[in-house]
Amino acid sequence: MIDTETQGRRAGIPAGLPCRATIVAAEVVGRRTGKVGCQEPSYAVWLSQPDPRGLIMSTPVVLVTGALTGIGRAVAVAYAREGANLVVSGRHEDVGVELVDELSELGAQVAFVRADVRRDEDMADLIDRTVERFSHLDIAFNNAGTAGTPGPVTDVTDESYAATFDTNVLGTLLSMKHEFRAMRPQGGGSIINVSSTFGLMGYPNSTLYVGSKHAVIGITRAAALEGAAHGIRVNAIAPGFTQTAMYERFTASDDVRDAVNSVLPMHRPGTPEEMAAAVLYIGSDKASYLTGQTIILDGGLTAGWPLFPTG
Ligand SMILES: NC(=O)c1ccc[n+]([C@@H]2O[C@H](COP(=O)([O-])OP(=O)(O)OC[C@H]3O[C@@H](n4cnc5c(N)ncnc54)[C@H](OP(=O)(O)O)[C@@H]3O)[C@@H](O)[C@H]2O)c1
Repeated sequence: MIDTETQGRRAGIPAGLPCRATIVAAEVVGRRTGKVGCQEPSYAVWLSQPDPRGLIMSTPVVLVTGALTGIGRAVAVAYAREGANLVVSGRHEDVGVELVDELSELGAQVAFVRADVRRDEDMADLIDRTVERFSHLDIAFNNAGTAGTPGPVTDVTDESYAATFDTNVLGTLLSMKHEFRAMRPQGGGSIINVSSTFGLMGYPNSTLYVGSKHAVIGITRAAALEGAAHGIRVNAIAPGFTQTAMYERFTASDDVRDAVNSVLPMHRPGTPEEMAAAVLYIGSDKASYLTGQTIILDGGLTAGWPLFPTG
């Protein structure tokens, strides 16, 4: 019987790699990812575990931006129920502190970090404090977003452009920039951005929002190609109408809400919890071959012509 060190060498895993990097290296054996470099001991640790995927994801460290409301909050609750170590982020300290209390009661280790996704220094600080608190970052849900100011294309100004694109596009880019900085040396991670069905089709009086959510799909694809060699998966979700404050604002009256629901194949919007269930899967190692993709969660809205009778 050969010892674990020899098994590791025969599997092509460089000696002296730390355990987390070694796990990743072991999973891409043949490509010899000698670039990964954390500090703890050795592939013997990994080889002694019955299920290396279970080890990676046993207590994932998860970051959620825009976590204080809506879909972000539902995702934070879902991960807290899974026992994740969580960093929730948003712009309102008082709400953040309340959310930390709520999630802690579910048994999670949770920290709140105030950050505006449009600010490079805020995002650098958010990632640094995540890694300081939990030593690494496994999963990032880049959810912060805004509907901006809807209106015809003739009303677009440089201010209204910035008010939409700075959050939805620059915010997603800055999030990924600093998440990559944490994930590359640790040997991998999973990033989930938030687009929209409006990232897949047009909608009148929403050129800025539609453009920004199309952009999220493009930057997700490009970043996925950059991340693949480093074990970083980058995907997006494209929610359809989802029952949050944003949806309430968009469908400002019962009449509009009824009209929207009548063209939805399921005759109802999605729930934030339905978005969270998909995010949990995409973030997990069960989705280990999924990258560069946008998963549409729209109850069938984009499956066909919306005015086609749906029963
Ligand atoms: N609900 C839908 O029908 C729907 C459909 C498709 C896609 N989406 C997308 O889903 C994501 C979540 O939206 P939601 O429906 O859950 O609406 P929401 O409740 O309004 O959530 C948006 C969150 O993003 C935060 N945020 C906005 N700008 C920020 C910034 N600059 N820095 C940090 N946080 C910021 C907001 O916090 P503040 O209070 O600080 O603004 C809020 O907590 C968004 O990206 C949205 O575009 C929603």
